[in-house]
Amino acid sequence: SHLSPPLGTVKHQISKLVKISLAKCFPGDACIEPLVAICTNKFGDYQCNNAMGIWSKIKGKSTEFKNPNSVGQAIVRNLPQSEIIGSTSVAGPGFVNILLSDEWVAKSILNMLCNGIGTWAPVFDVKTAVVDFSSPNIAKEMHVGNLRSTIIGDSIAKMLEYSNVKVLRRNHVGDWGTQFGMLIRYLFEEIPDWEDANKNAIGDLQEFYKSSKRKFDADEAFKKRAQEAVVKLQKGEEQYRAAWEKICEISRNDFSQVYKRLKVEIIEKGESFYNPYIEGVLKKLDDLGLIKESEGARVIFIEGQTIPLIVVKSDGGFNYASTDLSALWYRINEEKAEWIIYVTDVGQSQHFDMFFSAARLAGWLPNNSIPKTNHVGFGLVLGDDGKRFRTRSSEVVRLVDLLDEAVSRCKQELTQRLENNGKISEWTDAEIAETAEAVGYGAVKYADLKNNRLTNYTFSYDQMLNDKGNTAVYLLYAHARICSIIRKSGKDMEELKKVGSIVLSHADERVLGLHLMHFAEIVEEACTNLLPNVLCEYLYNLSETFTKFYTSCQVVGSPEESSRLLLCEAAAVVMRKCFYLLGITPVFKI
Ligand code: ARG
Repeated sequence: SHLSPPLGTVKHQISKLVKISLAKCFPGDACIEPLVAICTNKFGDYQCNNAMGIWSKIKGKSTEFKNPNSVGQAIVRNLPQSEIIGSTSVAGPGFVNILLSDEWVAKSILNMLCNGIGTWAPVFDVKTAVVDFSSPNIAKEMHVGNLRSTIIGDSIAKMLEYSNVKVLRRNHVGDWGTQFGMLIRYLFEEIPDWEDANKNAIGDLQEFYKSSKRKFDADEAFKKRAQEAVVKLQKGEEQYRAAWEKICEISRNDFSQVYKRLKVEIIEKGESFYNPYIEGVLKKLDDLGLIKESEGARVIFIEGQTIPLIVVKSDGGFNYASTDLSALWYRINEEKAEWIIYVTDVGQSQHFDMFFSAARLAGWLPNNSIPKTNHVGFGLVLGDDGKRFRTRSSEVVRLVDLLDEAVSRCKQELTQRLENNGKISEWTDAEIAETAEAVGYGAVKYADLKNNRLTNYTFSYDQMLNDKGNTAVYLLYAHARICSIIRKSGKDMEELKKVGSIVLSHADERVLGLHLMHFAEIVEEACTNLLPNVLCEYLYNLSETFTKFYTSCQVVGSPEESSRLLLCEAAAVVMRKCFYLLGITPVFKI
């Protein structure tokens, strides 16, 4: 008796009805695109805004319609019969207000509970996307910028995956370039037994990098040997290749510590992967006449830019841009990606603007169509001094330390609280550790994701670990509380889903139900504009809406108990999906 899985968002479903109506009203005008939006006034849940535009086209030519309002009336008259719509009204200049049927909202929510939240997934016309994120540089410490990229990129990837887009999660690590000549030479000269597999000869790679750089800057002869080493590495000489592998391996292990803590899946295809493609790709661009000589370098001139895009340096070497052009070519042609998304700090905007323009000149990126690219830029992480986030001794913060600190603070606070309310004996050490991790990592992620990514934000443990206000801690506990309401009712929810029904009788129940129904639209919007903060805002509002419902509607022991428990369950399911899409692990015990 439940609905079959709905296709896409509510907005999408209403658009389909409006489209049918428009085709009936204006049979001559083959396809007027329905303009449907979430309504912001009390007369509707959704509104159709087509009337004004249509009126301005037919004004003076039609005998049937005398004003935009009559166009709106006609749209309403011709809407097909549908269980979605409760009632309609037409406001002054033809805006059609649509109130959803309470029964349909209730049924849709129950259907979601029975068939999974996948039935609410938005629908995109893109089949495969690349999300290029995290992307730290080998032999350098992963910094907070890489952390932001990791958190934002993972969330975007998850939202697209939920929307049934196949996502290629790509770690475009900086594993190629002139610095490797220096590192390899230094390794050969300072650590002759570097190949001994039984010991980590390099030790701390950052220190190793710094001292090799010191030597490189001070010693001309060494500098020359380093430059020769780059050539040998690029030619693929075995010893050099092996040394390069060794260095990359150390960094890779460090990076994976962070991914493991954050539970982030990502596949490394570093700069070196695309190196074999560069020559061929540049030839294609050259054949199109795009590559010019400029001051000994080979460049692509781009309209509106003061400097050209350098694709071959004056020393003949390739660079960041030639690699990115090749990677884009590969992603479009070999991986068949239709949407390629790059997550880096806004400082790199110009690089992306320029190389996207070059790709457009080459005809790789058609206008307003697929394949398409986006640069997802983000701002800085600041310390409480308003400057770039650093340690007290003004060094780059090690990400593992930052994450560990968040967890250990959570653990301390949780233990303290459990001791205070005499509950510590109800918790195992493992439960405490798990909860502290979920909350700690969740807090770091949420504090990042809740801001519009373009703004800088101040990193503060105190703020992000506050259990009041718009924080992961607050939200995780709000979710755990809903779970405990359900648990304490003693009801078998699986059974209730099968035999029960939802009735939205109280105004606050309806508001909650409608908010749940907006979930897919929010994910759609967050994906379209590549803004995870939209989902955070939705999640926060959901917990507020739930609180309002729970304050005015008694659940356990009321005549409406089973319906209300199902609503609680639905709120918990949607909250958990939000957590999942934000990369946050839910907790169930508080
Ligand atoms: N490794 C670069 C950095 O640390 C980021 C790479 C981003 N991805 C890309 N395809 N350019 O700044």
